[in-house]
Amino acid sequence: MRRGKYSPVPPWPRTDYCGRLRAEDAGREVGLWGWVASRRDHGRLIFIDLRDREGLVQLVFNPEHDSDAHQVAGAARAEYYIAVRGKVVRRTEGTINRELATGEIEVLVSEAEILSPSQPLPFAIGGGVESAAEEVRLKYRYLDLRRAEMQRNLTRRHQALRGVRAWLDSQGFVEIETPILWRATPEGARDYLVPSRVNPGKFYALPQSPQLLKQLLMVSGFDRYYQIARCFRDEDLRANRQPEFSQIDIEMTGARPDDIIEIAEGMIASIYEFALGRSIVRPFPRMSYSEAMERFGSDKPDLRFGLEVKNLTAAFSGTSLRVFADALGRGESIYGLVLPPAYQLSRRELDELTEAIRSQKGLGLAWVKSSDGSWQGPIARHVGEPERARVTEVAALSRGDTLLMIAGQQDKVRPLMGELRLQLAAKFDLRRGNEPRFLWVIDFPMFEYSEEEQRLVAVHHPFTAPNPDDLELLDKKPLEVRALAYDLALNGQEMGGGSIRIHDPEFQLKIFSLLGIDRDQAFSKFGFLLDALSYGAPPHGGIAFGVDRIAMMVCETDSLRDVMAFPKTQKAVDLMSGAPSEVDPRQLEELSIKVVL
Ligand code: AMO
Repeated sequence: MRRGKYSPVPPWPRTDYCGRLRAEDAGREVGLWGWVASRRDHGRLIFIDLRDREGLVQLVFNPEHDSDAHQVAGAARAEYYIAVRGKVVRRTEGTINRELATGEIEVLVSEAEILSPSQPLPFAIGGGVESAAEEVRLKYRYLDLRRAEMQRNLTRRHQALRGVRAWLDSQGFVEIETPILWRATPEGARDYLVPSRVNPGKFYALPQSPQLLKQLLMVSGFDRYYQIARCFRDEDLRANRQPEFSQIDIEMTGARPDDIIEIAEGMIASIYEFALGRSIVRPFPRMSYSEAMERFGSDKPDLRFGLEVKNLTAAFSGTSLRVFADALGRGESIYGLVLPPAYQLSRRELDELTEAIRSQKGLGLAWVKSSDGSWQGPIARHVGEPERARVTEVAALSRGDTLLMIAGQQDKVRPLMGELRLQLAAKFDLRRGNEPRFLWVIDFPMFEYSEEEQRLVAVHHPFTAPNPDDLELLDKKPLEVRALAYDLALNGQEMGGGSIRIHDPEFQLKIFSLLGIDRDQAFSKFGFLLDALSYGAPPHGGIAFGVDRIAMMVCETDSLRDVMAFPKTQKAVDLMSGAPSEVDPRQLEELSIKVVL
């Protein structure tokens, strides 16, 4: 490796980014810095593609022009960081590269210096993601980030956040930071804990969201607040979840759900404008939670394709088919999904699907193929004529369709149908369409019953206000109470969610008690909130969006790792630094902590 003479700063200023030079620049003397993306030695002439964050430009080294510079080019290798000075010249007609933004020009180099050599690389920067395993890319994340795609993604994420700030600023929102070392706020995940050295045996919890802090800011009078807030949740990771992620966290005094929705739509529009320079269609459609579950088996339906779920419970009443008759006798439901003739499953695929659902969910899948007025398939002959006619009508079944059916408890069958719908859409490549399909899902239930904890749990969070129209159901039929809560879904992903909050301390205590948190527990955990609500707390509500998911949206990628600079693996490990790691026993001692493995 050849290093130039020691110099902690570049020998000349950069006048331009490599990737920004255009035909209009011909004739200019420029100074450039960048990485050697590729080098072609034609004996006399040496060509180097020099890369910086804006793209590539071709450099030409001619020994007759400058022999020192030509020697530097001879010594340079892939990913060396070099500085050059030279003149921008137009390429001759036959050598123009239409694929490259800078393809009409090249830079005739008169001075060059190697600022920093590079070892041979673990993978080629321009080689596309396939050229190395993801573990290798994450281990050398700083190199992976040099790829044009990652440069584009992180820049777009930045533009999206500029759009957020510009919009919220124009609407009078004030950005306020809240602490990271704090107490647990319940958002349904496990907490990350941080031991306190000066308070032995005590722990901070990293916030799962700034939920309570933003409510306190409403009590303080910052009536329109926002924050790009870091949140920490120790949960099982999936492609669209990371243990730490960012939220655009918003809270407003006196807000009705419509006010929040309007602010949020304006923000999404501003994001599209800043990140992609295009507008989107507004207002976004709205759908109640119950309709979303009934028609799509999901509280974040992907509207890019149909394949709607059908409720066949009533149509099968009095059926002669034993399994369905038994299910109906137990008060269960039957749901179906119709596959049109263009998307057919083979007998083997149907058997495999049936087996997968049986082994993973303990439920049976029944199917029939519809031909002229009759049904075919293993159960077809057990189904009586009257139900067949009703089902055909309800499911709008026509010739050549396949009807997939599952019977079971409604709260199990609908989500399962929703999953099946997505699985089939993926198989038949139905999730197409460039237009983003935003959807507000509203009227969420306040509570659901947790089998595991044997109690009611909050669907959004415990600070969410119920719909005033449902108040009298609170004691008798809590599961039927709707919350003033709303989520924004996009193409089957939850982008954000929020609610109007409870601002009356007595009422908050009442909701806590329904959730199994008694008065003493409530005061010990949330005393500061209950206190604050008793000092003239105004009504308020808000919402939070996942910044990473928004970045995925504008970058059109399916993975959070494509839009985060330094993400963690599925096992919450940072492969580059090795975090989490063991610590010095003395550190543990100072923290009064003993590790028991
Ligand atoms: P919620 O828990 O719905 O609401 O979170 C809001 C949004 O944050 C994003 N998100 C995540 N993104 C990446 N990785 C994760 N592990 C992750 N978890 C959540 C999602 C989600 O829609 N305090 C409430 C908001 C409010 O009521 O104002 C809250 O945190 O896009």
